[in-house]
Amino acid sequence: MNNNASKEIIIRPYQPGDSIPEITALLHKAYAGMAAQGMRYLASHQDDQTTLERLIIGASFLAVKENAIVGTITLYGPYPEAEASLYRQEGVSHFGQYAVDPDLQGAGLGKRLYQTVEDHCRKNNIKTLALDTCQDAADLIEMYRHWGFKQVDHVQWDCTNYRSVIMAKDLTAPPSPP
Ligand SMILES: CC(C)(COP(=O)(O)OP(=O)(O)OC[C@H]1O[C@@H](n2cnc3c(N)ncnc32)[C@H](O)[C@@H]1OP(=O)(O)O)[C@@H](O)C(=O)NCCC(=O)NCCS
Repeated sequence: MNNNASKEIIIRPYQPGDSIPEITALLHKAYAGMAAQGMRYLASHQDDQTTLERLIIGASFLAVKENAIVGTITLYGPYPEAEASLYRQEGVSHFGQYAVDPDLQGAGLGKRLYQTVEDHCRKNNIKTLALDTCQDAADLIEMYRHWGFKQVDHVQWDCTNYRSVIMAKDLTAPPSPP
């Protein structure tokens, strides 16, 4: 898929009635490669109830191509009860449940989904955007670094078999050119 094909895909907010099993299946498919490398992300095996809970607890966006859901991302928090101290702080949001259909990866759709979340944060006066990912996911960590994130902490979630790195981006600085 080239970048023009990616532009034919619509990104819109999640809405009640969107198929949860379809989103779960997309997540399992997208995260299968990470699971095969031994990084057991929750999204690689979560059930539909978990997908729904994670979608509606935050602001979720879907990428849709000809009525098929081909990408997803959710923006969360801040949560006063969050395990990671950064995620408890006012003005901090983090994103997750982030995936693009493997058949469509590498053509700019993931970046568009991410940019939707960053734009949403800037409009809503979020000062810091954060994320967590497996500390061994070197390529992903490099991708986020390239997008302006810095490693700020580590956390061990109960639901994963790996230690995570927490990364954060200061949104008070002007947006860098695409
Ligand atoms: C991460 C993911 C959503 C990116 O989607 P995508 O459509 O392939 O991303 P894009 O084509 O927009 O590429 C975005 C950029 O990251 C790079 N990139 C994409 N996927 C990458 C990966 N897995 N590792 C390293 N770099 C990656 C691209 O070269 C591109 O670079 P640029 O910003 O300089 O242009 C997708 O690879 C995916 O679903 N992965 C499995 C699930 C996952 O790992 N989610 C994140 C967990 S923290």
